[in-house]
Amino acid sequence: MLKLGVNIDHVATLRQARYRNAPPDRAVEPDPVAAAVVCERAGCHGITAHLREDRRHIIEDDVRRLRDSIATRLNLEMANAPAIVEFALKIHPHIVCLVPENREEVTTEGGLDVAGQEAALTDLRKRLNDDGIEVSLFIDPDPVQIDASVRVGAQFVELHTGRFADFYHRKDARNQEIQRLVQASVRAHAGGLQVNAGHGLTVENVALIHLVPHLVELNIGHSLVSRAIFTGLEPAIREMLEAMKGYPG
Ligand code: PXP
Repeated sequence: MLKLGVNIDHVATLRQARYRNAPPDRAVEPDPVAAAVVCERAGCHGITAHLREDRRHIIEDDVRRLRDSIATRLNLEMANAPAIVEFALKIHPHIVCLVPENREEVTTEGGLDVAGQEAALTDLRKRLNDDGIEVSLFIDPDPVQIDASVRVGAQFVELHTGRFADFYHRKDARNQEIQRLVQASVRAHAGGLQVNAGHGLTVENVALIHLVPHLVELNIGHSLVSRAIFTGLEPAIREMLEAMKGYPG
C-alpha cells in the first residue's frame, strides 16, 4: 500500500503570517500540531515538517511538540546546517529528509546535489543513523544523484515530482517526466534504496504517479492544506488517500 505523509508546513505558514512576532504568552492559531493529529485521525501514515533556516513556517517548538504528540512517524525535512543538525540529534525524529535550501526560494525548488557533496553527506548520514534516525535524500530523478545516494548509504530517496506537476497539463513533457521518475525509481530500488516521492502532488495528478513502481510513501502538503479550506482537513486527507488507493506497487 502506498503511504501518505502529510506535510503540515502550510498550517504553520498561516499562523506565522499573523503571529510571527507574537509574545510567547499570546494564544496563536492555527496550530500545526493539532492539524497533524487530525491528519492522523483521517488515516495518514506520517507527518512531515520542514524546519527552514529562516523559520518562515515551522519553528523548533512545533517540532518538539510533534515529536511528543503524534502517533505515526515524524519526518523532519532540513538542510545540512550545523545548528539544525544538532537540533535534530536532540529531538530525534524517526526520519530526517535532507533538502537543499535557498532563502530566496518560495518552496524547495530543486533536488539535493548529493553527487557534489558525497563525503559530507556520508558523514552526516552516519551521525544520524548512529542515533537511530533514518535518512532520506530529496533528489531530482537523475541517475547521477541516485548512484551517489546509494554510495552515501541513505535508507531512502525522495524523488522530486515538481517538474512532473509543473508539466502535468503538457502531455509530452509530462510523459517524459513520468519516464524519468519510473527509471529513477527502478534504479534506486535496484540499488537497495527505499523510494518516496513528493512535491506538487494533487488528487488530480496523483493518478499518474501510480505508473511509478516501488514507491513507499508520498509526501504531500500544499494541495491538502489548500483543499482543507473548502472541505476541512479530515475530508481532504481522506480524499487523497482514496485517490492513492489501488497503487500496483
Ligand atoms: N517533499 C519535500 C522534500 C518538500 O520540500 C515539500 C515541500 O515542502 C514536499 C514534499 C511537499 O510538497 P507540496 O507542498 O508541494 O505538496
